[in-house]
Amino acid sequence: MISDTMRMRMNQQINRELYSAYLYLSLSAHAERVNLKGTAAWFMAKHAEEMTHALKMYRYLLDQDAQVELAAVDAPPVSPDGVMAMFEGTLTHEREVTAAINDLVDLALSEKDHATNIFLQWFVTEQIEEEATVNDIIGRLQLFGDKGQGLLMIDNELGTAAKTMGQAQAPEAGA
Ligand code: FEO
Repeated sequence: MISDTMRMRMNQQINRELYSAYLYLSLSAHAERVNLKGTAAWFMAKHAEEMTHALKMYRYLLDQDAQVELAAVDAPPVSPDGVMAMFEGTLTHEREVTAAINDLVDLALSEKDHATNIFLQWFVTEQIEEEATVNDIIGRLQLFGDKGQGLLMIDNELGTAAKTMGQAQAPEAGA
């Protein structure tokens, strides 16, 4: 059993995760159109990960006998020109998601909602990893360049990394 406030806020977070998936799908399409196949694959894998995040929360609400209320997902902005801008936008977005997850943890703690607090810890850890990964990519773009040979190398690395990233799937009941 979770509070009405928590149910509402978790539903908002599902929407935020679905927006993240939509944003990365848009960036994947943009990258593919400018022939950055590895970058496109990486953003497509991020899309799949974000769908998994939304579905984890969806499953949690159902397991808590709480209503899932899906709302309209905003359209992502027109994808920026340049691979650096794409990753800087990604980092800004993930920092906003981190802040939203932290706010949810604050709410769980204030409500003494131990179950939701434990559930959210996975997301707290995930956000550390997500921000670190994008920071690393930005650092490599700064070091090796976001054009020519440097970009080609990083695009290849992102294509390889995409192969090890998860696929979207609905977690099973109780997962
Ligand atoms: Fe689901 Fe990238 O936060």
